[in-house]
Amino acid sequence: MEKSRFPVSQQLTGTLALAVFTATLGSLQMGYSLGVINAPQKVIERHYARSLGVYNEELARIGGNATEHEEASDPSVVMYWSLSVAIFSIGGMVSSFLVSFVSDFRGRVKGMLAINVLAITAGLLMSLAKMGTPYLMVIAGRAIMGLYCGLSSGLVPLYIGEISPVKYRGAMGALHQLAVVIGILLSQVIGLEFLLGNDDMWHVLLGLSGAPAILQSLLLLLCPESPPYLYIKLGKVEETCKSLKRLKGDYDTSKDIAELQAQKEEAMKEAKMSILRLLRSSVYRQQLFVALMMHLSQQLSGINAIFYYSTSIFQTAGVGQPVYATLGVGVVNIIFTLVSVMLVDRTGRRTLTLVGLGGMCCCAVAMTVGLAFQDVNSRMSYLSMTAIFMFVSFFEIGPGPIPWFIVAELFSQGPRPAAIALAGCCNWTCNFIIGMFFPYLETLCGSYVFIIFAVLLFGFSIFIYLRVPETKGKTCEEIAAVFHRKRRAPPSKPQEEAEMVQLKSSTEA
Ligand code: GLC
Repeated sequence: MEKSRFPVSQQLTGTLALAVFTATLGSLQMGYSLGVINAPQKVIERHYARSLGVYNEELARIGGNATEHEEASDPSVVMYWSLSVAIFSIGGMVSSFLVSFVSDFRGRVKGMLAINVLAITAGLLMSLAKMGTPYLMVIAGRAIMGLYCGLSSGLVPLYIGEISPVKYRGAMGALHQLAVVIGILLSQVIGLEFLLGNDDMWHVLLGLSGAPAILQSLLLLLCPESPPYLYIKLGKVEETCKSLKRLKGDYDTSKDIAELQAQKEEAMKEAKMSILRLLRSSVYRQQLFVALMMHLSQQLSGINAIFYYSTSIFQTAGVGQPVYATLGVGVVNIIFTLVSVMLVDRTGRRTLTLVGLGGMCCCAVAMTVGLAFQDVNSRMSYLSMTAIFMFVSFFEIGPGPIPWFIVAELFSQGPRPAAIALAGCCNWTCNFIIGMFFPYLETLCGSYVFIIFAVLLFGFSIFIYLRVPETKGKTCEEIAAVFHRKRRAPPSKPQEEAEMVQLKSSTEA
């Protein structure tokens, strides 16, 4: 049964593996940049204080022995530090809008190549920070790295989604997130004080975030361009066949070409989809709503509240060595992303997202109970610890990796880049909001802060259950058909289920 659905063109080849590996170096860089700023905070703040001249003043004021708290409490240091952290997601927000332009201008491969200029410049600025004004160079470097990450978090899933065989599209799409979490852990490990997270080496630690771009630039020269881009955008049939064969082995490409042709005809019915046009189009409204909600659920689940502030949350929960507990979170993160990579093409996107969000909702409640009652019963801190680890595990099973690649699955070639741009912008904006305002929320709500996320998670689970169709194993056209049918006759629940069953049986026949 499976065999007839996925003929020879579903092969995994060396070139495909190389192309996916190369693309995910961009994701690795994003993970590294997300994680790198936390561990060396105090060390970097001290350099900011020195360069702002407040370190010495402070020393003079208290007689030569400023504590870390006193250094950081200088308002200008706090401001420049907060800016160094937040400017990264602002960069992501801004540049994610340009994904459609960059990906369509000279293609996905050249797009990824071109944006590496940003990553390398950012890496250089940060690695030279000690030679100039540290806070200015770090802020500039983080802003440029944010611009890079906003673009690469769109381009990587787009490219991978377009080159992967349908059968493995989920697993390969989830590799973006796997590389992100490996990057996060890598930065946390290298950022330990006895490695690079110290006074002498912090600039190297930050500068290294640009290193994968050098390797990626070399490897991209060997990667084939995306067949849908070559065929639909450029109309180059021969080059498309060549690229398909490089990616999938020596096989009869006519079936794939026919599918690309159908997508091209579909795309030609509408003029090029700009972001504004997509926002106005009623044809894609439902897909867009689903795509944005998937990204909202990823960010508003509260995952980055854990990632950005895990050390202080562990401290509150009474953990003795919070830094190592944070590293433990990084390891669990990787393990469960791997689980997702293995399951996503079997169990499906919808089921994994639902299980993930539902599980996170229960963990958020458990975390709240643990934190609220730890003064009454000291064993409650084990409950909050376990809940944090399980929260992260459930996130990586579905809500972490799936939103990044499902947008490329939900849209056909025409509106795809614009949809990815919008979804990316929504993701980065929420990331910024959580990073910026979680500490205030925590001060306001104390131990009960995760109840807010529990309520949001519950709402998102209901939404996914009611509105998100399964995309596993379906071609672009089949997925579009589910939404178009829904649009034509707003279906009742049984009708909707009948459609899904019908579509499922037609694709599995
Ligand atoms: C996803 C999110 C990112 C988060 C990461 C944690 O990639 O987009 O914001 O930090 O997962 O694993």
